[in-house]
Amino acid sequence: MRVFNFSAGPAVLPLEVLEQARDELTDWHGGGMSIMEISHRSKAFIGVAAEAEADLRELLAIPSDYRVLFMQGGATAQFSALPMNLTRSDSTVDFVNTGSWSKKAIGEAKRYCRVNVAADAAASNFTTVPARESWQLTPDAAYLHYTPNETIGGVEFPFVPELGVPLVADMSSTILSRPIEVSRFGLIYAGAQKNIGPSGLCVVIVHEQLLGRARSDTPSIWDFKAVAAEGSMLNTPPTFGWYFAGLVFKWLKRQGGLAAMAERNQAKAQLLYRSIDESGFYRNPVEPSCRSWMNVPFLLPRTELEKPFLVEAGRAGLTNLEGHRSVGGMRASLYNAMPLAGVQALCDFMREFARRNG
Ligand SMILES: Cc1ncc(COP(=O)(O)O)c(C=O)c1O
Repeated sequence: MRVFNFSAGPAVLPLEVLEQARDELTDWHGGGMSIMEISHRSKAFIGVAAEAEADLRELLAIPSDYRVLFMQGGATAQFSALPMNLTRSDSTVDFVNTGSWSKKAIGEAKRYCRVNVAADAAASNFTTVPARESWQLTPDAAYLHYTPNETIGGVEFPFVPELGVPLVADMSSTILSRPIEVSRFGLIYAGAQKNIGPSGLCVVIVHEQLLGRARSDTPSIWDFKAVAAEGSMLNTPPTFGWYFAGLVFKWLKRQGGLAAMAERNQAKAQLLYRSIDESGFYRNPVEPSCRSWMNVPFLLPRTELEKPFLVEAGRAGLTNLEGHRSVGGMRASLYNAMPLAGVQALCDFMREFARRNG
């Protein structure tokens, strides 16, 4: 039996896609082998890889002067590789710090170059996005890095910054949740395990102008230009993850693309936030204009209610609602594959739990 899985990642995947992968697992397209058992250099796999890229390009309307890379090591490898690719040791990178993932990216960049935290949401305990007018930018920064959706804090940028330097975005927990204008970014990266597919894979969308700037001591496997030149097959890529991502992209197209996903995701999030706000029992600490559509943290009135909440939710088939260990409380992640019925079931459970414990 499937549950409603509210995990922040690895997260729920579309059942239709899981079933397709299951049906194809031992005998992919009549070849008598699984997709995992064939060479990445084979015509068959190169076809799968190219189709996945083409579908992603279509979904996000990626302009032709951007390259799409399917890399390994998750989003962490990418925010670590970024400074090697785009800075010299005397360069400055600007960051907007809106929470845990921003902080980790800042920590890695500091190993390579100067870091300027242009804006910091620490004063609000990471419940808001600092107003654009307050940012202290470096005029010749190598790039500005930000996290459009902070997965742990549930804080989302209500705007895309307009800047004179390349904009780099960690879209791990927001990519494909709605349409975006790719041309406003220098580079977008996203770990796969929320809206794309299995963990380990990371999709990178990079403007061609940012290729070829890597430091000479950058390992080839982390050099965007070298990876792009080899069609993301400089070594053996994560073939199963790439294939699975391709199935998810096709599923998204069948759903009506990203405009349709945006409508559904907004409706799901609104339903849950309304239930929280109107309950007089639960509380979401994030400034309303910066509330995430994807990750909804909420607190119970007394911490001793957390354990029974989780146990009873589990019994009702609602799983992985525990907040991140660094912040506590509860968190419901509502990625693309979470149906509205799951959110309705959660809201019903929460209402009933509040009635019994209020
Ligand atoms: C916004 C964000 N960035 C980066 C990461 C790290 O991703 P990975 O574990 O794939 O390195 C995560 C993981 O959940 C995330 O949510």
